Amino acid sequence: RAFLYRLWKGNVSSKMLNPRLQKAMKDYLNTNKHGVRFPGKREARLSRQELLCELRRRVRVQTLDGKEAPFSALGWDKHVPAVPLSRLYPRGLRSCAVVMSAGAILNSSLGKEIDSHDAVLRFNSAPTRGYEKDVGNKTTMRIINSQILTNPNHHFIDSSLYKDVVLVAWDPAPYSANLNLWYKKPDYNLFTPYIQHRQRNPNQPFYILHPKFIWQLWDIIQENTKEKIQPNPPSSGFIGILIMMSMCREVHVYEYIPSIRQTELCHYHELYYDAACTLGAYHPLLYEKLLVQRMNTGVQEDLHRKGKVTLPGLWAVSC
Ligand code: C5P
Repeated sequence: RAFLYRLWKGNVSSKMLNPRLQKAMKDYLNTNKHGVRFPGKREARLSRQELLCELRRRVRVQTLDGKEAPFSALGWDKHVPAVPLSRLYPRGLRSCAVVMSAGAILNSSLGKEIDSHDAVLRFNSAPTRGYEKDVGNKTTMRIINSQILTNPNHHFIDSSLYKDVVLVAWDPAPYSANLNLWYKKPDYNLFTPYIQHRQRNPNQPFYILHPKFIWQLWDIIQENTKEKIQPNPPSSGFIGILIMMSMCREVHVYEYIPSIRQTELCHYHELYYDAACTLGAYHPLLYEKLLVQRMNTGVQEDLHRKGKVTLPGLWAVSC
């Protein structure tokens, strides 16, 4: 519990994690699988307002538009939706909810509050059926990693989880964001199922995030963290928070920073325990959370009891 209290105050470091997680972090730093090169400075001195302005200045949601090689030669400009994600809601969204899949959301009774927002973002295969009381039942958008598209266990083609929602997929690319290299060797080949799904469901908005966007978020996390963070992409949760901050006037994030219900139960919908789900091993999750904690404009009580962080939309920040 001591760790949780310090996390709420933004006062933790990776040295306080259990030895197994520390070892995993170190191994990822040594492997540097994605070829990350960070020549910038690492510090954590920006205030909340300065951080928000920095995000407003730099964060631009970018999806594949099919106009760059190798996608241009493959006719992708005809395959991707005509309206880009950044222009899907031209008048913007007012209030948005980002619902993390953490086990700690069980017994929260947050369902009604979550559904009261104009748009609700969920992740990967997180269901609502059977969990309505705690997580609500509205889903506007789903962020899915490339394993969802490629692992048959997820039934991407026929599961109702992926119907009638805006879909945003991503896959870890090289830090160089070289699209040719990525296309030849994605982490999981999401390109084939993406095209197939687009052809079968041409009216469903479905995007693939541009690697530049993902690594730009990584740069921002590292620049604002004193410690060396894992050289791997941010978690879907962090990516989703920034997408919603770009599209909504106000963003309410549930069970990202854990509430008093904190548990090692990885997901609310799965009987599997691992502290890495909440604190990170592959993803620089602990550092993402510290950054989000620094931007929280909500009251402490909401953080402790609901696991809720409130963030202004980037276009509602005055800089
Ligand atoms: O595991 P998955 O990526 O599907 O979960 C969605 C997001 O929720 C994660 O990317 C992470 O940001 C967040 N999460 C968390 N704590 C957990 C499980 C998930 O913060 N225990």
